Amino acid sequence: MTSRIPIVAGNWKMYKIRSEAADLVNGILPAVSKNNYCEVVVCPPFTALQTVANIVKGTKLGLGAQNCHFEDSGAFTGEVSPLMLKDIGCKYVIIGHSERRTKFGETDESINKKLKALYKHQLLPILCCGETLEERESKRLYEVVERQIRGGLADIPSEKMPTTVIAYEPVWAIGTGRTATPEQAQDMHAFIRKILADMFDKSTADNIRIQYGGSVNAGNVKQLMAQPDIDGALVGGASLEPEKFIPLIQFKD
Ligand code: PGA
Repeated sequence: MTSRIPIVAGNWKMYKIRSEAADLVNGILPAVSKNNYCEVVVCPPFTALQTVANIVKGTKLGLGAQNCHFEDSGAFTGEVSPLMLKDIGCKYVIIGHSERRTKFGETDESINKKLKALYKHQLLPILCCGETLEERESKRLYEVVERQIRGGLADIPSEKMPTTVIAYEPVWAIGTGRTATPEQAQDMHAFIRKILADMFDKSTADNIRIQYGGSVNAGNVKQLMAQPDIDGALVGGASLEPEKFIPLIQFKD
């Protein structure tokens, strides 16, 4: 038996100016304070991180960023470093989201560098993986996800794995309203855990939290979270309003 504490994270993407971010976080905080069975994290855009950091300080709500560079500092116009995120009070950083991979040219190699940089600063990565619709339909889903997991976690020592979260997000389910069925998600989560057991060892794999992401909402969260290998959710659209997000952290109530 393992004791994986589910983790529900809101990926706000490029939404919310500071005043809106403050309203949103103040709206969800009371529910987070009452919640005892999952960890809750919000990942605002960079410009709202400080505002949200000030509000969540000393509460149970964790702060995350959506991306970072792999160097601490340097001539990298437009980039933000792990050191800067640590300084602001971030605990988590989402790495390798499919939007970063497809729209900003991120590769398994650059993702791997970012992960290593995060460990250096005791920041916790949420490593995203997931296949496109075309890859699923052509039955290459396992091959693609395996490549992303092995590439993203290449040369990472097993002692870093308890602080690593994986997010399985089928690209065809992100922002489309089309969720993977609980069976499809469970099948891929079990497959990912098998790869992790092969890369590290079974007990390490059994302790890694694997979130599901892709159109998670109040209507489907309970069934998804009831699956044995699903340990929380990475939520986009439904994380932008307290009324939609709060039910997602109360999936056991
Ligand atoms: P969605 O996004 O919940 O809007 O599908 C999930 C994500 O992109 O992390």
